[in-house]
Amino acid sequence: MRKFLKVVGWILCVLVVLALSAVGVARVIAGRKYNTQWTTHTVSFPLPFPLSATELETLRSERIAAGASAADPLAGVDLQAVTLARAIARGEHLVKTRVNCEGCHGNDLGGKVLIDQAIVGYWAPPNLTAGPGSVTRDFSVADWDRAVRHGVRHTGQSSSMPTTEFVNLSDHELSDIVAYIRSRPPVDRTMKPVGIGPVFSFVVGFGSSALPAFSPDHQRPHPVDPPVEALANRVVRSVGRLERRHRGTRPPRRHGEHLLPHAPVRRLGEGQPRA
Ligand code: HEC
Repeated sequence: MRKFLKVVGWILCVLVVLALSAVGVARVIAGRKYNTQWTTHTVSFPLPFPLSATELETLRSERIAAGASAADPLAGVDLQAVTLARAIARGEHLVKTRVNCEGCHGNDLGGKVLIDQAIVGYWAPPNLTAGPGSVTRDFSVADWDRAVRHGVRHTGQSSSMPTTEFVNLSDHELSDIVAYIRSRPPVDRTMKPVGIGPVFSFVVGFGSSALPAFSPDHQRPHPVDPPVEALANRVVRSVGRLERRHRGTRPPRRHGEHLLPHAPVRRLGEGQPRA
């Protein structure tokens, strides 16, 4: 019986040593992966994005409908303020309906502790507002691109933020999201850096997809407009061309007639058909 207990004791000791070694090895690999330095392209895009031709045209129509002079309907309009307000509204819509930055960074975007357990680790998305403790206060457009579409921190190291869903955001969308984040009131909150506990070590050290920086091509250019919007703009341009041909001196081509009914064509973004 004693001999049997001794054997069991030895087996347990070996198992504990093996488990501790595995955690140690995982911790070293995870640390290396987390500290990998990445070289990404340096993008640049306007913040906020200027109003598109369609948005300007809609604004002119709205102003004329509100009684402004048809010759210069934008006279007296603070176009910069309108541009920023629209970017913030689009960004808010994206954050609330698609990208949910607030779900992790807190409703006030000032940072939030998501995991704080010795066995797992410490995972607290940081403060994105401009208040004390902000990581993004001095961010350039390129830093936002790295953090959100590449999974790379402003320091150049891997980020543990799950960015796979954000990789295909267009410049326009990211610019709108940043305009919204910057419009939020500053929050005074400092989050501690991510802490790699045993479970984190295994997931990051032995998993292949825990750090998104290892997946995307960091030199691949991003779309400027969201794909659907780019398509919609092309359709609007084509319809405009057909409409001009229809109204102009040239008679519509026979084979194109079915595309162009005699009723006025409504452009995207316009509430009422054109007279
Ligand atoms: C699933 C949770 C989650 C979501 C959703 C999320 N984040 Fe994060 N974010 C994190 C975590 C965790 C970190 C800290 C990562 C680290 O330092 O390893 C982080 C870090 C950041 C950073 C700092 C990068 C740096 O340089 O240190 C920025 C900027 C950021 N997030 C922006 C955003 C934006 C913008 C969105 C929405 C488009 C977003 N995050 C959505 C979890 C999230």
